[in-house]
Amino acid sequence: ETQTEAELIGKNEVLPLYKPREKFSHKGTFGHSLIIGGSYGKIGAVTLASKAALVSGAGKVTAYLPKCGYTILQSSLPEAMVITDANEEYLTNITFDITPTVIGIGVGMGTEERTIKAFTKFLKTTKTPLVIDADAINCLAKSKETLKLLPAFSVLTPHPKELERLIGKWSDDFDKLKKTKAFSKKYNVIIVLKGANTITVYKEKLFVNTTGNPGLATAGTGDVLTGVLTGLISQGYEPLIAAIFGVYLHGRAADVIIEDFGYQSLTASDVINGIAGAYLDLF
Ligand code: APR
Ligand code: MG
Repeated sequence: ETQTEAELIGKNEVLPLYKPREKFSHKGTFGHSLIIGGSYGKIGAVTLASKAALVSGAGKVTAYLPKCGYTILQSSLPEAMVITDANEEYLTNITFDITPTVIGIGVGMGTEERTIKAFTKFLKTTKTPLVIDADAINCLAKSKETLKLLPAFSVLTPHPKELERLIGKWSDDFDKLKKTKAFSKKYNVIIVLKGANTITVYKEKLFVNTTGNPGLATAGTGDVLTGVLTGLISQGYEPLIAAIFGVYLHGRAADVIIEDFGYQSLTASDVINGIAGAYLDLF
């Protein structure tokens, strides 16, 4: 047994991670985030993640969607660019001629057979840092041989059900952490275990987040987290740092917002609106 290190993450821990903006920076300095996902009826997931990436500080954001998402994304988020798949309702061919700094993939994507195939083909060729969430995790779980295709330092953000599909059932929390650490080590990836006390796992290291509240138990807040982590990597934060800092900011954004809206009324869009306050609150 190797020694486990667990660190509680609060403001004092994230402050030294923060990168101040230089006067002579331009949008190229903060990278190009690509958000890939969406399917008929779940275009909102990509909209939320794309907006969260922009609000977190990405220089540019492009969304990659099935055709049915084109007008929705362009009208709800004018700052973002859109690339569409050839298919109307779900993704069938994940290829594009841009060179993003980072890719967030999986939100609202669905697990159609052709989407899984396109995702596998995408993994075989991509060299871009990845944030892998939701149905991209479900695609990995459905086709386990794809796990060895994961680029090193990819960030995976499973909720408990997605984690179970990925690593199998666990007997208790110790077993869950043991299996997660083993998975992180085997594939050299960062795993963000989402929940009331989100834990970021990298090999033997555990980072326990201290922000966030039960207001976050509402649809789409996970999609917002995917956007935040993608937006941070876009700006040059290393993937593990982005995971630790991003989980903190996302929780703090929700904490700032409930002061005015309360737990029940908090929505995922409110969390995006709280990100500014979470940054300002650092100082
Ligand atoms: N306290 C603090 N944080 C919480 C709490 C809580 N009680 N409950 C949830 N959260 C946070 C989690 O840590 C996570 O960051 O809210 C977020 C929820 O993320 P998801 O579970 O991924 O939820 P959601 O955004 O609705 O997912 C959208 O994608 O993952 C699929 O099946 C999922 O259809 C769903 C969709
Ligand atoms: Mg989710």
